[in-house]
Amino acid sequence: MTTSISVAVIVGSLRKASFTRRVAIAAMARAPKTVECRFVEIGNLPHYNEDLDDKPPGEWERFRAEIKKSDAALFFTPEYNRSFPGHLKNAIDVASRPAGNNLWDGMPAGIVSVTPYSSGGMAANHALRQTFVYLNMPAMQQPEAYISNAGNLVNVKGEVIDEKAGEVFTKYMGAYAKWVGIICGDA
Ligand code: FNR
Repeated sequence: MTTSISVAVIVGSLRKASFTRRVAIAAMARAPKTVECRFVEIGNLPHYNEDLDDKPPGEWERFRAEIKKSDAALFFTPEYNRSFPGHLKNAIDVASRPAGNNLWDGMPAGIVSVTPYSSGGMAANHALRQTFVYLNMPAMQQPEAYISNAGNLVNVKGEVIDEKAGEVFTKYMGAYAKWVGIICGDA
């Protein structure tokens, strides 16, 4: 492929010291050159409200433009109460509307769940998959990525401090790049 695939990386945590963002930084550093990963921020998006569809807030428009110019998406999410955070759902909703303008339609998605605890955030990971069914987003099946004990794997700069975790991130990003290449027509 001559041009790289544009990947919107969306982090489902808004806090500065987010473990999830640190893992995202570490994984992005291991992405093959065939994918161009960039963060698309969701923290300033007003709540989705259909009443605003005729006069959408600027933040919605900016976010939608970022998604529109992306070939693929890669979600890094923490788990909140056995699901993914509400602000992440809001961002997904914003780019799925107004009705008939689902920008996610057909866009391949990778999902990495992250927790500082031991559960791997599996419930959040699979809750995202459920939403992607309705949005018609193909989600990469394998390898799955449930990242536990994140505080022991990456430092505050998003640098890997656990060699095995680094290998997992490299493997995941390699598989993701290969898979989006196939979905986006670079078989
Ligand atoms: C959590 N946390 C959490 N952890 C988990 O593994 N499963 C869960 O269901 C929950 N539920 C939950 C709800 C809410 C509202 C908060 C704020 C937190 C803990 C969570 O994993 C921890 O706060 C992480 O540090 C959040 O990710 P970031 O912000 O570090 O990326």
